[in-house]
Amino acid sequence: MKLLVINGPNINMLGIREPGIYGKNTYHDLLVLIERVAADEGLTIDHFQSNHEGAIVDTIQAAYGSYDGIVINPAAYTHTSVAILDALKAVSIPAVEVHISDVDAREAFRQISYPGLYCEKTIKGQGIDGYRQAILYLKEKYA
Ligand code: DQA
Repeated sequence: MKLLVINGPNINMLGIREPGIYGKNTYHDLLVLIERVAADEGLTIDHFQSNHEGAIVDTIQAAYGSYDGIVINPAAYTHTSVAILDALKAVSIPAVEVHISDVDAREAFRQISYPGLYCEKTIKGQGIDGYRQAILYLKEKYA
């Protein structure tokens, strides 16, 4: 099984950005976690991070025919991006949305998720462990 983990803007700043909200784990720690889960579960997992909406759309489009599942944290684009929603719908790859923080307990503008309208599950408020949970969900359902 081949999965793709996509992270949106400022996720590369994990560990530095607002540690009271996003925790002390760095983006490197997240990549180590993903690699460990891939090895433990016998999965191939690629990862991509960008601060640019179009690059995320391009990456989702390029996943068509190559990946069995997508784990996506669109970060701030969660709350604005119909383009990312439409790209997920276009490729029709099973997807799980992850948020490191508990967006439900935050500002009103974080309560809408456009990509979440496509994703079959959303994991929020679990820190970087949410990515592990999303990967395991896709493995259990689709492998
Ligand atoms: C986030 C939550 C978003 O509201 C925020 O813009 C992010 C990160 C999270 O992982 O908790 O950048 O997606």
